Amino acid sequence: MCGIVGYTGFRDAYDVVINGLRRLEYRGYDSAGVILEKADGEFEIKKTKGKVDNLVAISKELHNTSRLGMGHTRWATHGVPSDNNSHPHVSNNGKIAIVHNGIIENYDTIKTMLINKDYSFKSETDTEVLVNLIQYFMDKEPSLTFADAVRFALNEVYGAYAVSVLHEDFPGQIIVARLGSPLAIGIGDNEYFVASDASPFVEFTKEAVYLEEGHMATISLTDGIDIRTIKENTRIEPVVQELRFNLEQIEKGGFEHFMLKEIFEQPKSILDTMRGRLLVDEGIIKMAGIWDHLERLTNAERIIIIACGTSWHAGLIGEYLIEEFARIPVEVEYASEFRYRNPIVSSKDIVIAISQSGETADTMAAIKLAKEKGAFVYGICNVVDSSIARFTDAGSYTHAGPEIGVASTKAFTAQLTILSLIAIKIGHHNGNLGKAEFMRLITELDAIPKKVEEVLNSVDKTVKEIAAKFVDANNFLYLGRGYNFPAALEGALKLKEISYIHAEGYPAAEMKHGPIALIDENMPIVIIAPKIGHYDKIVSNVQEIKARKGKVIAIVNKGDTQVAAMADYIIEIPETAECFSPILASIPLQLLAYYIAVDRGANVDQPRNLAKSVTVE
Ligand code: M6R
Repeated sequence: MCGIVGYTGFRDAYDVVINGLRRLEYRGYDSAGVILEKADGEFEIKKTKGKVDNLVAISKELHNTSRLGMGHTRWATHGVPSDNNSHPHVSNNGKIAIVHNGIIENYDTIKTMLINKDYSFKSETDTEVLVNLIQYFMDKEPSLTFADAVRFALNEVYGAYAVSVLHEDFPGQIIVARLGSPLAIGIGDNEYFVASDASPFVEFTKEAVYLEEGHMATISLTDGIDIRTIKENTRIEPVVQELRFNLEQIEKGGFEHFMLKEIFEQPKSILDTMRGRLLVDEGIIKMAGIWDHLERLTNAERIIIIACGTSWHAGLIGEYLIEEFARIPVEVEYASEFRYRNPIVSSKDIVIAISQSGETADTMAAIKLAKEKGAFVYGICNVVDSSIARFTDAGSYTHAGPEIGVASTKAFTAQLTILSLIAIKIGHHNGNLGKAEFMRLITELDAIPKKVEEVLNSVDKTVKEIAAKFVDANNFLYLGRGYNFPAALEGALKLKEISYIHAEGYPAAEMKHGPIALIDENMPIVIIAPKIGHYDKIVSNVQEIKARKGKVIAIVNKGDTQVAAMADYIIEIPETAECFSPILASIPLQLLAYYIAVDRGANVDQPRNLAKSVTVE
């Protein structure tokens, strides 16, 4: 949800900012802007509706004109994407400039107050209100330092934000602050970077300070970094951390899109998720996060899983896993519903929060609520040191590596891997899983990365050909049973978010309760039908679809004959335990969505209206 980047040092600030914005474009991409501090201290600003490429087209001449600058790539909240609503926004006196990620909830009240004091506004944004509030404090008390004015203004607003602010009268200073939206400061040799995540500066430095909630920092080459609490102005010692990823991991590496690269990374990312945790030869699952709290997890009266989007689908599969192997009752909730419905939660509950980004605002708010109600919160996050990772009581990283494509792929299979490990571990510990079954499961889980590789190698061409047949479809139905019902939901989400084709996921047995009315010769139905669980029931579902002339794309096990004989198209995956079958089934579903979207000319990495981390409610 909006990307912020800033730089002060000896390099060309324009290049650092523009390249940084390209890396942050996954966060939002409906408009972009850059501001540079010129040698005389004055600002030079260019901003436009559209992507960073549009910004470059109107700002190239700024190359090599400045050593300090900042930029923004936007995901609209207040006001449509337009040149006027693009960031940076400048105060009425033209001296203060701001870029902002998040929402100022009380902007309207402040705007009215400022209008009554003759301030005027050019945009519809909440951001322009904040920058004028900073000016207001400086107008009111001219002796105020820039940092104090920013602090005073931030103490008046509520909502969620990360901001970066410059002032013409305070050249060389960048002020950043965060409450609810992430912000990292990169520390180089005689240079500083600021960004919504570390990707814009990882090629220049491996040292970063992640700004904590409610903190602000004044950054300058002369005085270094001064971190304070926004509320009390208490000085805080910066905690420098080492970045644990490299440039290669955030580049496309020869693939046409990040999404395709990330799909093909899954044999490795799943292996990375299991590395050091699944020790088959020793017959153990070793997970620090779980180990330290094993008794608490094992004795939980109930587990509540909270998440959004794809992570929520992973949570649904987590429910099947935990209930089957650990025999602990599980409820899975959309974080956005949980947080607003006064749920019954107590200290006897364990809450598992799942989030790739670790920044999702709804999930974060749901965690806060669960903690307030006394629950122990266990986080499953991909982004190391993210807000959720730091705010939860304990947790496990998925270690899938940076996921840049807006459509979540490798993070999903990594989440399923972690949830499998947790469920099997608890089940074994609490005696529900005997040694033999435990060994069978972990041996099979250990084989999953190889099987994913096999799927990728064997189905890519077939899926591409199938995709070409359905490029003009208007609707899709995805069906699955048991563990593969949530996989069907995920398949449908993948297709709709990147191809803009309407798609719905259903438990296959629910088809007869309504969706069957949609089936005719024009309806493609993707059915996940491995030979496990209730295979015979799935066979009947396929018969019901064919009787109504629906077009069946079936995901079956190698050598399947029954479903294969009826389906219009088949995609074969290897056999595995039922509980791991969603991991294998997800691969062709991701590829199908990808190839259909590419054939339709859609921007798969940056689908319309979406953003990678949803830091607004
Ligand atoms: O970062 P999170 O896992 O918390 O994100 C949750 C959803 O916003 C995310 O999964 C979204 O649904 C993706 N675009 C799905 O591909």
